[in-house]
Amino acid sequence: MISIKNVCVKYNGRTILDNVSADFEDTRIHLIVGPTGAGKTTFLSVIIGFVKPDEGTVAVPRGDISDLRKRMGILFQFPEEMFFLEKVYEEIALAPISRRMDRIENRVHQALEMVNLSPDILQASPYEISYGEKRRVALASILSYSPDWILLDEPFAGLDRRGINMMMGVIKNLKERGKGVIIASHRIEEIATICDSVTLLVEGRLIFSEKTSMTDWNEIYRAGCDVPVSVRFSMALAENGINIGYPLTIDEAVKRLKEIRREER
Ligand SMILES: Nc1ncnc2c1ncn2[C@@H]1O[C@H](COP(=O)(O)OP(=O)(O)OP(=O)(O)O)[C@@H](O)[C@H]1O
Ligand SMILES: [Mg+2]
Repeated sequence: MISIKNVCVKYNGRTILDNVSADFEDTRIHLIVGPTGAGKTTFLSVIIGFVKPDEGTVAVPRGDISDLRKRMGILFQFPEEMFFLEKVYEEIALAPISRRMDRIENRVHQALEMVNLSPDILQASPYEISYGEKRRVALASILSYSPDWILLDEPFAGLDRRGINMMMGVIKNLKERGKGVIIASHRIEEIATICDSVTLLVEGRLIFSEKTSMTDWNEIYRAGCDVPVSVRFSMALAENGINIGYPLTIDEAVKRLKEIRREER
């Protein structure tokens, strides 16, 4: 578990994170949502240790956070803009090589498999592959050093539906392999169905950090974030006296509506 307690961050006297506390369990998918400027990227930077909080702590219950941070990887927004080597292979091999790890080729292939790419891509230039492939190569280039925690900042930005579905599959795969994942995202539509917890930040303050099943989607919507279209639809139904809760998919919304109809008969 990663335990964040009373974290405050100030830039030039302005408060960016205001007394934020949250716990993130291992091997789960955690979603951080909030409108633009809420402090999501800053929050991820604090967790990985790139930004030192002015107050508060990031800790693990047993052991040392600095050890855990060595086993964390972060993908900032548009990571593919950071490529600078000639071959995809070199990009993915870079991190384990610089960490003096062994079995580099093996690691590269494993990472590639985790992001669902074929080895054919290894000899390509990172500049000549598709946008969705670039994003997955960028992710493979941190998975190659086997982090236990993966922090993703807006992993869906700029991807089309197919790219988003692909990335969703990769994220699910990470969880199945026992990784902890923390995702900061504007886009909630798809990820809501696979995340285990949702944390809402607004203007640097934590509004809640809850299991997904307990999440108040109304609050997220009121904060100015997108919510799944099925949730939006349920809100409109609720305003008209039909309560189906907050289903996270259209299929689930239809199922609940059918149940209501059956009960009415
Ligand atoms: N290095 C910095 N120096 C000064 N202010 C900063 C710095 N980094 C971020 N900020 C400010 O901190 C606030 C939070 O920024 P942050 O990028 O963490 O928000 P965010 O929730 O990730 O936003 P977005 O959804 O747009 O990515 C913003 O008002 C931003 O202008
Ligand atoms: Mg951000």
